[in-house]
Amino acid sequence: MRGIVLAGGTGSRLRPITQAVSKQLMPVFDKPMIYYPLSTLVMAGVSEIMVITAPEDQPQFRRLLGDGKQWGLSLTYGIQHRPEGIAQAFIIAREFLAGGPAALVLGDNILHGVGLGRQLVRQTRPVGAEIFGYPVADPSSYGVVEFDGSGRVLSIEEKPTRPRSRYVVPGLYFYASDVVDIADQLKPSDRGELEISAVNQEYLRRGTLSLTLLDRGTAWLDTGTFTGLVQAGEYVRVIEERQGLKIGCVEEAAWRAGLLDDDQLRALAEPLIRSGYGDYLLRLLEWKSNASPH
Ligand code: TTP
Repeated sequence: MRGIVLAGGTGSRLRPITQAVSKQLMPVFDKPMIYYPLSTLVMAGVSEIMVITAPEDQPQFRRLLGDGKQWGLSLTYGIQHRPEGIAQAFIIAREFLAGGPAALVLGDNILHGVGLGRQLVRQTRPVGAEIFGYPVADPSSYGVVEFDGSGRVLSIEEKPTRPRSRYVVPGLYFYASDVVDIADQLKPSDRGELEISAVNQEYLRRGTLSLTLLDRGTAWLDTGTFTGLVQAGEYVRVIEERQGLKIGCVEEAAWRAGLLDDDQLRALAEPLIRSGYGDYLLRLLEWKSNASPH
């Protein structure tokens, strides 16, 4: 399965901060925002990834992430000329996906929870679509999913004025290879976008949409507004300082996934020592040799 991080968009709710820099390069406490969704994919076992950005932002993403080899990943880059909808990612990535299944994560989505990595690895052989449901206080600005007692999906609605449930679909999706053709057939919605909810509705119609509810121990953070961005940073800081474990650390995720060996992790730590980030990577190696749990 190949992965896509969709990191285009306009970031209009973060202007003027996003006037000159992509939202997904903003710091969320101790690392750029895109590290979080990238490490989510790596935790799911995906290592061949396309990063899709607006044309003017691509050089900065390349400078930050390179070709991914330093982390045992293979990163390629795609361009979205205008933010014409999340489902457009599959059209842009058609050749990259090479007829195989696809994992898509939005570049501004931070998911964190115990056992999440293990849970995600199970989704990487989808028959159709594998999506998630997460309860939020105000569902009306998201894709809302309605389901029955046995977890069977009844409806998906994008930004409904009267939501049929409290559960919305976070920006992490797993699809079988037919997703590219489904995206190709879509017509733009009233707001002019190729909607990811329309893709999910098509899988629902075909009877191959499956929903996994994320339990309440999972955090899904919003980074799209000033307050959301600061709160996400604060959440990461509180958890990291309390537990001594990092959230969204791509190097760690790659090392745990066996994509990097101990010596490679040690070499990555070197230039990051002064910020403390490198110390953390070295500590992971120490913990391993002392056989402590995490
Ligand atoms: P949004 O938060 O819906 O849009 P945005 O990032 O442009 O921000 P704003 O609403 O402030 O203008 O997008 C969610 C994520 O999906 C974000 O990481 C950007 C990405 N995205 C694209 O890359 N291309 C698109 O066409 C759309 C709709 C979203």
